[in-house]
Amino acid sequence: MKILFFSLLLFCSCSSDNEVKAELPAHTGKTLVVYYSYTGNCREIVTTLTGQIEADVLEIQPAEKGLKYEANGYALGTELLNSIKANPNDISSYPAIDPVATSIADYQNIIIVTPLWWSQMAAIMQTYLFQSAAQMAGKHVGMIVSSHSSGISGVVSDAKRLLPNVTWMGDALWINASNHANRASLIEDWLKTLNFSNEETSMDKMYITIGEQTQSVTLVDNVATRALVEKLKQRPVTVTLNSSGGFEIWGALGFSLPISNEQMTAEAGDVILYNGSNICLFYGSNSWSYTRLGKIDGLSESELRTFLKAGESNINVRLALDNMTSIRASLTPDPSPTGEGSIYSINGQRVKNPTKGIYVKDGKKIAL
Ligand SMILES: Cc1cc2nc3c(=O)[nH]c(=O)nc-3n(C[C@H](O)[C@H](O)[C@H](O)COP(=O)(O)O)c2cc1C
Repeated sequence: MKILFFSLLLFCSCSSDNEVKAELPAHTGKTLVVYYSYTGNCREIVTTLTGQIEADVLEIQPAEKGLKYEANGYALGTELLNSIKANPNDISSYPAIDPVATSIADYQNIIIVTPLWWSQMAAIMQTYLFQSAAQMAGKHVGMIVSSHSSGISGVVSDAKRLLPNVTWMGDALWINASNHANRASLIEDWLKTLNFSNEETSMDKMYITIGEQTQSVTLVDNVATRALVEKLKQRPVTVTLNSSGGFEIWGALGFSLPISNEQMTAEAGDVILYNGSNICLFYGSNSWSYTRLGKIDGLSESELRTFLKAGESNINVRLALDNMTSIRASLTPDPSPTGEGSIYSINGQRVKNPTKGIYVKDGKKIAL
């Protein structure tokens, strides 16, 4: 009976499943795989996918547990989809999902893995995309759709409606009951067609130095960080910041960056652009309309307070693309008698036969 039902659906479904067009030649940066799975097929797809690429995984869960979407001739699944269809711009039309802590701002690429329900995107995944559309704007997004047999053009349309401002990485991949077992090679081939590489771009790190301490910052990919990186490529920038509000140190950058503001709650460690020309480094939290630049890596809230000199004024902060810690290490005189005149890489490694590039010699940066 079920087979007949899905065979009919397959027969009725449209043929142009792969409408999403590639726009960029290569996709680099951090990747988030976000999925929903009711009967486990999408979960298996995600396991296979994350065996092939490095990615963080986010599972979307319905707020109401134990529901049987397929019971009574798929009555509940149908009801949820009809409610969305009747009022797609109203969040109350979508089934509630569990709160999601993952911040999309930390990722450049997002791969959605979703089941197909009645030739549409499963309602639970629709909720997540509807509520995340603003944060996903500008991201590179790919999609894998799992169905029993129906074609996926309706799911592709749903994705485009829900995420109008993303860059699609390429055509969506359709995995169905007859090729699910073969998913490893399907996914491998699909990733190749996307020209997908999740090696982090060399410019996804910035370094903040305060006093003797340097900390790395993982930058998000947006118009502001791209402009900031261009600025820092010319030379490091030193700014003077002041503590404010019990949650941040902030001050003028001395130049403006393009903004992509969104209402957000900045948390400890966040590096934020405020009003286009001020940088804020957070050791507490505050809600405002900001442009996110990145996050200071690996410091606890109390370590951040110490590093950022919380409560103080006139704090000198150096922003750079190179890591002062390693440069400083290479500026330290070599204890060996042959140290003088030695050449070091920018990472502090002694180099015997330097080729063309930037090095450190006798405490000074040199170009060969
Ligand atoms: C409510 C509901 C509706 C579905 N509608 C269809 C359909 O129209 N066509 C189809 O081929 N499969 C349909 N399926 C099957 C799923 O798309 C398929 O089993 C998929 O692999 C499920 O992924 P999951 O195991 O990760 O939940 C439906 C499943 C459910 C629960």
